Amino acid sequence: MGNWFDEASRLKRMLDSAESESAVSSQINVLEDALRDLKASLAGGTQAPARDSHFNYSHEYYAGDRPAVITTKGITKTYGDYNANDGVSITVKKGSIYGLVGRNGAGKTTWMKIVLGLTKATSGTVELAGGEINEVRRRIGFMIESPAFYDNLTAYQNLVYRAKLIELDDPERAIDEALEKVGIPEKKNAKVKTFSLGQKQLLGIAAAIMGDPETLILDEPVNGLDPVAIVKIRNLLLDMNKKGVTIVISSHILGELQKLATCYGFILEGKLVKELSEADVMNGDVNIEDLFVSLAKGELS
Ligand SMILES: Nc1ncnc2c1ncn2[C@@H]1O[C@H](COP(=O)(O)OP(=O)(O)O)[C@@H](O)[C@H]1O
Ligand SMILES: [Mg+2]
Repeated sequence: MGNWFDEASRLKRMLDSAESESAVSSQINVLEDALRDLKASLAGGTQAPARDSHFNYSHEYYAGDRPAVITTKGITKTYGDYNANDGVSITVKKGSIYGLVGRNGAGKTTWMKIVLGLTKATSGTVELAGGEINEVRRRIGFMIESPAFYDNLTAYQNLVYRAKLIELDDPERAIDEALEKVGIPEKKNAKVKTFSLGQKQLLGIAAAIMGDPETLILDEPVNGLDPVAIVKIRNLLLDMNKKGVTIVISSHILGELQKLATCYGFILEGKLVKELSEADVMNGDVNIEDLFVSLAKGELS
């Protein structure tokens, strides 16, 4: 297998163009083979996609009062001559909801992808608490940008794919629970091509929360959701957080973010320009939108 991501993209195109049930099921077999290869490579083969030498990890990295779950130091990601991330050092503490704020193109998605090992930093380090970095990454639930699904497969079939990847003991139960929590249990056996934009987004969130991860990374999760779904997802995330789940969430919708986040990082043109700790948020009467607009003033004028 070549680059597994290219391979997955190729398979997705094949699946999307499959016209009959049997064509779909034969594609599923191909997918399962690809999945086995991917697992083998993650388990230590030569093709491990997320094993980057400059990453390291620590079991017990403490920052202040609570242990850090994610620590990035001086992350820089250069595309051509542009730094999509420019020396970003962020510490996400256990049990927090870290709100990542920034305009389009500020570098939020880039930072999340680097933390998850989906893309490589040009320089800087990522530390994830709790074990070997690729192992910890596999246990992080995430949704990055618009979730990609196989249109010709059902919600259930799509989620099984991820459930197998993260080796859940009881995939069916985990899938049922996740679909129930995001409010689309009736969509379990519907093909993704019949989903609305918002329903796809909810399926992406279901994939992220499946199997009760201890850490969640969500990139603009409420984009495209209707008001009822927004409230449902907000309550779901608050409930998970109460049970100890650490969450990193980026959003443009600052009013919504403010109902969730316990601390913030503001990114402007690849640079982390300000952070608000939990103490800052609790002690001050901060309006995130006002603060953000004033930080971005230099850019706006
Ligand atoms: N694969 C890529 N190739 C070139 N430029 C990229 C790539 N991915 C992101 N960028 C650029 O990096 C910057 C940050 O992008 P991104 O992290 O997606 O921002 P955000 O998520 O905050 O909107 C943008 O200028 C974007 O155009
Ligand atoms: Mg983004």
